[in-house]
Amino acid sequence: MALHRLVGECPPLDTNSSYCNLLQCSHFGSTSIAAVRTDDLVGSVTGYRVPGRPDTLFVWQVAVHPSARGQGLARTMLRKLLVQPAMREIRFVETSITPGNEASWRLFIGFAAEHHAVMERSVMFDKALHFQGAHDTECLVRVGPLQA
Ligand SMILES: CC(C)(COP(=O)(O)OP(=O)(O)OC[C@H]1O[C@@H](n2cnc3c(N)ncnc32)[C@H](O)[C@@H]1OP(=O)(O)O)[C@@H](O)C(=O)NCCC(=O)NCCS
Repeated sequence: MALHRLVGECPPLDTNSSYCNLLQCSHFGSTSIAAVRTDDLVGSVTGYRVPGRPDTLFVWQVAVHPSARGQGLARTMLRKLLVQPAMREIRFVETSITPGNEASWRLFIGFAAEHHAVMERSVMFDKALHFQGAHDTECLVRVGPLQA
């Protein structure tokens, strides 16, 4: 429920059902990470290995509570997630970002630079074609190959 609340406090992230958040914390726990300050969840990166592509981590959502932003927490969580045992085979990191999400673009541009990796961009889900106008286009970002 803490994850559910955190995501709700981090627009423009889409909220998921609490059931979905529990699946992220259980089935996808080894490809996700949480940041806790005292007893409060202040950051999370949820992700999963793309089905059929075990070398690719898809970052589902990155959330940092407003009170913890601008201190490198998102970057630190990505860094620490990538060195977890479950990440041994990961060579590519993908995510989707809406065109106007400046902080998120900066985060992944910085991540690619830190890994001396190429960052490719393409349309993943189009505003008109896939969302019927109800949501901004989600651009697919692919970073890699990452060093073993
Ligand atoms: C995006 C988000 C996770 C960044 O968290 P954070 O811990 O503040 O980010 P960091 O401090 O690690 O900064 C990462 C980079 O983003 C930049 N950045 C952070 N906030 C920014 C902002 N509001 N505008 C522009 N750039 C920003 C930082 O300067 C840094 O880039 P740099 O190294 O080139 O200077 C956070 O703002 C958030 O939760 N936003 C709402 C949810 C969201 O949009 N999530 C991302 C989509 S998956």
